[in-house]
Amino acid sequence: MTDHQSTKTSTGHELSESSYLDSHFETMKPEYETMIRSVGIQSGWKVLDAGCGGGSFLSILAELVGSNGHISAYDMAPENIEAVDTLVENKQFPCPVETKVGNVTSLPYEDDAFDAIWCANVTQYLTDDELSQMLAEFRRVVRPDGMIAVKELDLTTNLYYPFDPTMIWRLFDAVRHHRPQVQGNVRTIQLPTWFKQAGLVNVGFKTYLSERQAPLRPIEQGYIRNKLKFHAKMAESVDLPEQDMVVWRELADFDSPGHILKSPDFYLREGHIVIVGQGPKN
Ligand SMILES: C[S@@+](CC[C@H](N)C(=O)[O-])C[C@H]1O[C@@H](n2cnc3c(N)ncnc32)[C@H](O)[C@@H]1O
Repeated sequence: MTDHQSTKTSTGHELSESSYLDSHFETMKPEYETMIRSVGIQSGWKVLDAGCGGGSFLSILAELVGSNGHISAYDMAPENIEAVDTLVENKQFPCPVETKVGNVTSLPYEDDAFDAIWCANVTQYLTDDELSQMLAEFRRVVRPDGMIAVKELDLTTNLYYPFDPTMIWRLFDAVRHHRPQVQGNVRTIQLPTWFKQAGLVNVGFKTYLSERQAPLRPIEQGYIRNKLKFHAKMAESVDLPEQDMVVWRELADFDSPGHILKSPDFYLREGHIVIVGQGPKN
């Protein structure tokens, strides 16, 4: 089990450092595989993985597009792109994978360059203005009729048990006004509306639940510990009722005998939404 000292990238994004992303992906792998396979990426397509992180989705994307396909992996954090370059060197993907560092609000690609765009767990980091810029850029670089698929965590479904569910609601509500990432994850259910406002057509979405129960696999333990530490640290940054803080401090102390991770009834629920739309026909 790995406890990460910091999950932040050099560009300041929390929960984005590549070894944390690996533990996240491994924990959620069955659901994440189902999500990416469901959107309809076809053999031979040119696909942009926008905000690719350390490349967790690349193996499946490469399998889907096959040897006639092509992947562009793009991310703002240079160290995540370095991790992708290492993966490409070691993994022998069936198709070419080209990498670039940059911001999703300004893409260094030609108009109509892609058949599809896959963008997972990135909108949470964007302000409303940046989200509009990103969707406008996606519309520009995807061919007419091409596909845009965005996957995002929906914090409104997040639950830990045994733990009073309203504690996490109070935390997120207190924090979201000064932490754009939390606000970004509360905005998830609005993304289909944002797609339509960006001029995308045939917009649809599906919600997926990831549920984990005791006994947890070591990789799941590691991932959940990091999430609990992250939430407990966030709780220290806002004004919450004292009785909530007692519980958050106990949650940060994994040696505490009553820690929820030691409960035989431990349960985690995370919700994810996958939104799919198309660029309009010419
Ligand atoms: C939580 S990680 C998700 C990575 C990968 N898509 C996955 O799901 O495993 C978020 C990634 O988005 C990148 N990112 C955040 N804001 C960005 C922006 N404005 N432009 C490009 N990349 C960005 C971060 O550097 C990080 O690698």
